[in-house]
Amino acid sequence: MEQAKFSVETAGRVIICRAAISWTPNTPLSVEEVEVDPPKACEVRIKVISTGICGTDNHVLEGQFSFPFPIIVGHEGAGIVESVGEGVTTVKPGDKVLTLPIPQCRECSSCLSPKGNFCFKEESVTIFLSPHDPISQSPTGLMLDGTSRFTCRGRKIYHFAGTSTFAEYSVLSEISVAKIDSAAPLDKVCVFSCGFSTGYGAAINTARVTPGSTCVVFGLGGVGLSVAMGCKASGAARIIGVDINEGKFARAKAVGVTDCLNPRHFKKPIQQVVVEMTGAGADFSFEAIGTTDTMIAALESCHLSYGVCVIVGVAPFKARLAFNPMLFLSGRTLKGGSLGEWKTQDCLPKLVNDYLHGKINTDPLITHILPFDKINKAMGLLRGGKSSLL
Ligand SMILES: NC(=O)c1ccc[n+]([C@@H]2O[C@H](COP(=O)([O-])OP(=O)(O)OC[C@H]3O[C@@H](n4cnc5c(N)ncnc54)[C@H](O)[C@@H]3O)[C@@H](O)[C@H]2O)c1
Ligand SMILES: [Zn+2]
Ligand SMILES: [Zn+2]
Repeated sequence: MEQAKFSVETAGRVIICRAAISWTPNTPLSVEEVEVDPPKACEVRIKVISTGICGTDNHVLEGQFSFPFPIIVGHEGAGIVESVGEGVTTVKPGDKVLTLPIPQCRECSSCLSPKGNFCFKEESVTIFLSPHDPISQSPTGLMLDGTSRFTCRGRKIYHFAGTSTFAEYSVLSEISVAKIDSAAPLDKVCVFSCGFSTGYGAAINTARVTPGSTCVVFGLGGVGLSVAMGCKASGAARIIGVDINEGKFARAKAVGVTDCLNPRHFKKPIQQVVVEMTGAGADFSFEAIGTTDTMIAALESCHLSYGVCVIVGVAPFKARLAFNPMLFLSGRTLKGGSLGEWKTQDCLPKLVNDYLHGKINTDPLITHILPFDKINKAMGLLRGGKSSLL
């Protein structure tokens, strides 16, 4: 009720609110007032209630990609629709929504296929189409009509992933929001917008982990822990977690990791340790860090004839994988995926329902809840290895 009343007052007007602006790479976020335009046709404006911080936000802020600056990052959000543009039919003011870094347009070949989820309306899709030329194919940082809805000190501020959740209000395409149950606690379910769904889906949809199997997960941040949760839910008998930060091990064990390894404690390569521990390699291996070395270690950790390795981590643009192709001749499979290969608008609300019905417990993923003006502290916790998700 209150939200609906509020939207009547603000609908159609510019909203002035706080946002965490990144003016240039590798500088602290600057929390200041921005003007947020009303939504245009097929767009919605939301009040962001909670947002997680994903490793990908950090990669962008460190300038690892060619996103335009100044930018408002953040994509793991949950909020309430404040107003809608012309032609919007799937949500109305007052609805609770998740923000979708991968939209679901229902028209492109990815959306029309029963397989895959990488919608062609995803903001940086050109990079995935032409990874050999990422610079000339940079993400636009703009809404689908080629314009921005954010202004600060008279300057245009770019969007990120069509979501920009490090702001009190944000404008998204209708295809980038998913309506969720009105009972969903937004400070808890924001993790379904990216981190949790990514990791959980990597195990369930991409790897298709089987009961009784052995899995190894490289990286025990929010995404890696969610992979482990997906492996456990699929009936994996053994889940080996690999991380250089032993502070991650207790939480990993709490979500189902059976053995924790710190590669720095071994003289031999960690993949050799995993192969020896498992007899001949894990059935399923996952990389949730984002470096090429750990991607190769994950590939070499899986069983030589039927092992499946799933890359989830995002490596810097210019990174290239180099390994001996003999690794494949024995039968290994290398796969990757984004946002757990869920058709986002259709599937993420169902995962939230599973949470509400007690079938999934994502609460152990949330290490800290901080107010918006402490966002630099939150970034510091992520960079310092103290948090999994916010
Ligand atoms: N594919 C997707 O859709 C998708 C979605 C979300 C995140 N991601 C990517 O997944 C990765 C993980 O994200 P996150 O939010 O969990 O990040 P995070 O920073 O919370 O976690 C990364 C973990 O890796 C560990 N680590 C770092 N270097 C290591 C090394 N050499 N060996 C072992 N462990 C190491 C860190 O200690 C940390 O625990 C990032 O690259 C992120 O961009 C991908
Ligand atoms: Zn993310
Ligand atoms: Zn699509």
